[in-house]
Order: sequence, then C-alpha cells, then structure tokens
Amino acid sequence: MSCEITILGTGYVGLVCGVGLADFGNQVVCTDVDGDKIDLLKEGVVPIYEPGIGEYFERNCKEGRLCFEKDVALAIKEGDVIFIAVGTPAKEDGDVDLSFLWSAVEAIARYSTTPKTVVVKSTVPVGTTRKVERKLKELNPNVSFTVVSNPEFLREGKAVYDFFHPDKVVIGTEGREAQELMREIYRPLYLLGTPFVFCNFETAELIKYANNAFLALKITFINQIANLCDAVGADVQVVAKALGMDGRIGPKFLHPGPGFGGSCFPKDTRALVKMGKRFGEEMSLIEEVIKANEGQRKKVVGKLERLLGNLEGRKICVLGLAFKAETDDIRESPAIDVVRILLERRAKIHAHDPQAIENARSVFGNSVSFFEDMYEAMKDCDAICILTEWNCYRNLDLEKVKSLLKGNVVLDARNVLEPDRVKQKGFVYEGIGRR
Ligand code: UDX
Repeated sequence: MSCEITILGTGYVGLVCGVGLADFGNQVVCTDVDGDKIDLLKEGVVPIYEPGIGEYFERNCKEGRLCFEKDVALAIKEGDVIFIAVGTPAKEDGDVDLSFLWSAVEAIARYSTTPKTVVVKSTVPVGTTRKVERKLKELNPNVSFTVVSNPEFLREGKAVYDFFHPDKVVIGTEGREAQELMREIYRPLYLLGTPFVFCNFETAELIKYANNAFLALKITFINQIANLCDAVGADVQVVAKALGMDGRIGPKFLHPGPGFGGSCFPKDTRALVKMGKRFGEEMSLIEEVIKANEGQRKKVVGKLERLLGNLEGRKICVLGLAFKAETDDIRESPAIDVVRILLERRAKIHAHDPQAIENARSVFGNSVSFFEDMYEAMKDCDAICILTEWNCYRNLDLEKVKSLLKGNVVLDARNVLEPDRVKQKGFVYEGIGRR
C-alpha cells in the first residue's frame, strides 16, 4: 500500500523526510508558503546542504514518487496524510514560537474536504499535539482528523543517513488505525527491525526533549570532568574512553569542548526548563546544564588569558566558526560566543573556517579579519585557538605553523591534535582536560 503524503514546510526537516518517505515507496508532495523555494525545487535545485540528499531527490523525482506544489491548498486537498514540518524557533524568553505551526493547522482545517491523518513532525512543547487535534476539530467539524506526534532525531550533516538508519521511530497516537498507517509509511524500517515506540501524544513529545536534553547533559558532564582533569592533572581522553567501556554509559557524546551549540540543543534545553515551570516541575539539572554550557565558553577564554596574559591587542587566530564540523551553520555556535568575548577583551581576531565564513561575516562584519586560507590566518598571531573539529585542523603542518606564528601558544578546544607532537615542535599546547 502506498500513501499520498503531503509535507507542509519544506525546510531542512521537511525536505529530508519528504525525500526519504518517497524513497520508501510513498507518493509525496512537498509544499511551502515560500513559493520561491518550491520553484527552485521544481527546477531540480536542492536549497539545503545535506550530504547524500541530491541522489535521493533526483531518483524519486525521476521515478514520479516525489513532487513539489506551490499551491498549499491543493497540496492539502490531495494528501491523505499531512506531515507538519514547519519551523518552531525559540522566542527571546526561551519559549517556543508556534506561529508557523498554528498557520499550518489553520490551513489544513480550511482546505481539507476528505479524512486526514495529520502528523506533527516539528518539535513542539508537550501538550501541543493535543491542542492541534482540538483545534482541527473545532475549525472544521465536518472532516475527520486523526492526529499523530512523530518527532525526528536528525543530525545536521548526517540527516539523510539518520533518516534511513534511525535508532527508533516514535509514533504518538492512541488510534489503532493510525498506528498501522504509520507503520505502513515507514514499512522498510519496520521490516529492517528498527524499534517502533507507540505511545500517547505527550509521551512522544517529551521523548524528543528528553533525548536532546540527555545528550546535552552528557556533553556538559564530560566538559566538567575535563575541567577537573585540568585541575588535577588527569587526562579526560582516557577518562572518557574508560567511561564509554561501561555499556550503561556508552562511548558517544563524551567529547569535551567549548560547549554544545546548534539549532537544537540550546533551544530544546531552554524549552524543557520552561515546560517544567509551566507544569510546576523543576528541571534543575537541565538549568545547571544550560548555565555550565555558557560557562564553558568562558573557560576557553580563561585558558587563553592564563597563557597570554592580558588579551588586549593580542592577535588570536581562531580556527573554526561553525557549531560543529561539516556544516556552515553558526547558530548558537560556541566559536561565535568565544570570538565575541575575545573582542570584548579587545583581542584582534584572525578567523578561518572551511564553510562558515560568510555566515560569521554577517555577525562580526569588519571587527574580525576573515581568511580563506588557514595558514594565512595564522601570520603574526600570538596564538591559535581551535574551536571546531574540522578534519583540516587535525593535520596541521606544524613546521609551517611555527614559521608563521609570532607566539607559540596552541589552544586546542576540541582536542583534535596530539599534544606530544605539538609540544615536541616547541609550542605551548593546551587542550581541554589533558594538561
Ligand atoms: C542534534 C541531535 O543530535 C539530533 O538528534 C537532533 O535532532 C538535533 O540536535 P545537531 O544539532 O545536528 O543534532 O548536532 P550534534 O552532532 O548532536 O552536536 C550538537 C552540539 O554538541 C555541537 O555543538 C557539537 O560540537 C557538540 N558536541 C557533540 C560536543 O561538544 N561533544 C560531543 O561529544 C558531541
């Protein structure tokens, strides 16, 4: 059985899901209020950078399972299953801005004439999916709506891989038929033995937040252990490796650094704290995670201060601006925060990143000197400071670095270099938790 699926919101999540669901054999129409985006997609241009997406996009368009529609009303009318994959950005106060979601819900209610299954893919605070159900029924009592919460766990840069190899598929709905329908939609995963978690709306919504908050907690934990390693002379790399050998802990997400960033962890941890407040439950552990994560940026600057003294007028070569490697995304990037603090301390910044320079330029303008070539960026600097774990920084030509740098300080805030090799070349090396 193949389903007629409409994806409402063809951003990063919507497009990856659309392409993936089409590859599973479903008939998928993607639509968006941004008509220009749909025009581009119709011309065969994929407007996001995501490794592997092009191949799946072309194949499914060619084989007629994937198409794009500018007319949102028409796309809604034709779909049996409507996935809502619109953005749910953070508001200034940490709350979630649901205005795109409610516009989508109104459009579905307005244009639906036949029974619809509405799947909430966007990350929404607990309680939202139930409100979606209520609102759809209120706005259009003549149509039968079945609602499902189906959160995603896609990583930027690995989203296509993650779509086809998820650890689990979470389906929040109480209706038997809707559960069967969702199983059909994700049939290839089901056949491959991917675990399916069936639960109610609230559980599904909370799984997403708990998942991200736990990962944020794990990173923050290893960052604090790394800071302690610095103080006592232990090696966090060995500590993390040994921790990871305990099957109950697992080896992933134990890489210390300048703190987590990106479009999800900071936003979702803040939203979880807000949610707790709303329901009268303290999320004190996650509040501490948020605070410690902000403090971790300052730890990096503190290390530079200890190594260089007063930073005023010091020239620092920052290597890496993106929130993680393999992306040009600088949203809530720890590197951007570190540069901001360094500028406040009146340091002079030479910055390099393989992908994120244009985005960073829009933040810092001329207050930072940007370089396309990382070695050019190092010329006459007092120190280099690695803030994103790009592969190109793992294999620095240390002889070349030596000849270019005025000072001799290497601050490796992502632990990508081999300390002994760097020290042998006469540098003062410092990582995170490996002093
Ligand atoms: C994350 C989740 O992994 C994903 O499941 C969810 O759907 C969206 O949020 P993403 O933001 O793309 O994905 O990046 P991720 O690879 O998880 O890294 C997030 C941040 O944590 C980055 O700043 C990264 O550098 C940092 N990090 C990650 C660490 O500092 N140490 C680690 O061990 C792992």
